[in-house]
Amino acid sequence: MSTIGIIGAGEVGSHIAAAAIRCGHEVVLANSRGPETLSDLIGQFGASARAVTAREAALAGDVVVIAVPLKLENNMPAAELAGKVVIDTNNYMAWRDGHFPVVDSYEKTEHELRQEQLPHSKVVKAFTHIQAPRILTWGKPTGAPDRLALAAASDFPEAIEVVRTLYDQFGFDTVAITPMAESWRITPGQPAWKQERHSIAELRANLAKARPVVRP
Ligand SMILES: NC(=O)c1ccc[n+]([C@@H]2O[C@H](COP(=O)([O-])OP(=O)(O)OC[C@H]3O[C@@H](n4cnc5c(N)ncnc54)[C@H](OP(=O)(O)O)[C@@H]3O)[C@@H](O)[C@H]2O)c1
Repeated sequence: MSTIGIIGAGEVGSHIAAAAIRCGHEVVLANSRGPETLSDLIGQFGASARAVTAREAALAGDVVVIAVPLKLENNMPAAELAGKVVIDTNNYMAWRDGHFPVVDSYEKTEHELRQEQLPHSKVVKAFTHIQAPRILTWGKPTGAPDRLALAAASDFPEAIEVVRTLYDQFGFDTVAITPMAESWRITPGQPAWKQERHSIAELRANLAKARPVVRP
């Protein structure tokens, strides 16, 4: 059992929290409006969950999930996240986030930008190509023939291993993507992102089919 800090308590953050609690972890959850606004959610989760500030979530987590859209100016607690594995679920959506020219041009991926904003953390992109509620319902036991696979992208093998353990506990296999510069292969508009259900072989095949397209 470990403590998972979760910054962002919306669709993704709350479903990762529920899955983590089901697997015996403790979670500390933060949003932008303050811990007092999370009392209903914490009430549903019970004693394994606490509402905190983003800084407190970063400090308390053995591993920290960021389930918040990326901003060009860092708004995450970089000092408190230093030295930690940071799982980033962000998908860049220009219609929602505004245009990031270096991402639109494929010069950098959105997760390389997050890594630059958190230079002393080990960022890993994960949980980005599954609709959040399915984190709780699509998992299968290890070795099940119809087990699905999810991607994890990072420059840090140890960060990928942390996600591999979590995916396995939640009921999914892992396909590793390295380096992070290759993480564009699992971005909105790409085959591996559009097709949600993949075996390991199907996910690898769809990642190989990725081609630069105009970002949605
Ligand atoms: N929804 C999905 O199924 C899904 C699947 C894969 C990936 N993603 C990606 O994952 C990210 C999160 O998506 P979501 O659907 O979970 O979004 P969401 O439901 O809108 O939740 C976003 C959460 O982030 C919090 N937040 C925003 N800015 C913050 C800050 N500076 N500090 C702390 N918390 C902050 C919000 O808090 P407040 O409400 O208090 O502002 C809210 O709890 C997005 O990039 C999305 O594209 C989503």
